[in-house]
Amino acid sequence: MDNQLKALNSSFIKNWPLLREGQVIGQYEIRPITLGDRTGVLDLFEHLSTKSRYFRYAHAMSTLPEALLHEIIHANKPGDFALVAIVMNSDDTQTLAGIARFIQDANGLEAEFSLSVSDDHHHEGIGSHLMQAILDCARLNGLSAIYGLINKKNVGMLLLMRHLGFILRTSEDDFQFYIAHYSTTNG
Ligand SMILES: CC(C)(COP(=O)(O)OP(=O)(O)OC[C@H]1O[C@@H](n2cnc3c(N)ncnc32)[C@H](O)[C@@H]1OP(=O)(O)O)[C@@H](O)C(=O)NCCC(=O)NCCS
Repeated sequence: MDNQLKALNSSFIKNWPLLREGQVIGQYEIRPITLGDRTGVLDLFEHLSTKSRYFRYAHAMSTLPEALLHEIIHANKPGDFALVAIVMNSDDTQTLAGIARFIQDANGLEAEFSLSVSDDHHHEGIGSHLMQAILDCARLNGLSAIYGLINKKNVGMLLLMRHLGFILRTSEDDFQFYIAHYSTTNG
């Protein structure tokens, strides 16, 4: 069974209620990324503030490089897997509001994750569900742990990490960053 099929067993890949201040204001779907998401990924990048881009990419990128865009929309294979959150708008259009991705290490046991949610959709629960979903997909694909580098000023992401049970320790390579680590055998 390939990565995608195993990941499709995740109970996190489904429709979710979109919450704002505790009220359900719509819904969104979490599903694996496809080549058809090219425009949506570009649109998401346009809806990341300078600060969000800095937290996601460790520098303030003004455009998403074509090579990176290509990589992201092809992240649907063993060792490199991405999920998107698609918000259903009231006018029947859809918005790609978030992406979570893992890339497996050379040793094949652990993977580095990344996560971004459109600034228009922060605090609606999307980041938490995407993160839980990508964790579950990593587990279903036999990875023992997942980790990511988080800037110490990224208060929201650190709260989310602690909330999900990640262990944080200062990076030995750069003291401005924590390494957030989660062992999939824990939960
Ligand atoms: C960090 C990020 C992914 C959070 O996404 P999100 O969809 O807003 O997260 P959620 O709504 O699921 O939030 C879950 C909880 O985490 C905490 N949280 C998330 N963002 C927060 C913030 N900016 N300030 C305080 N708490 C925050 C809260 O406990 C929150 O619950 P609440 O909104 O009810 O208070 C989003 O802000 C983002 O994309 N930032 C830019 C990219 C980035 O930093 N990526 C991480 C490095 S890879």
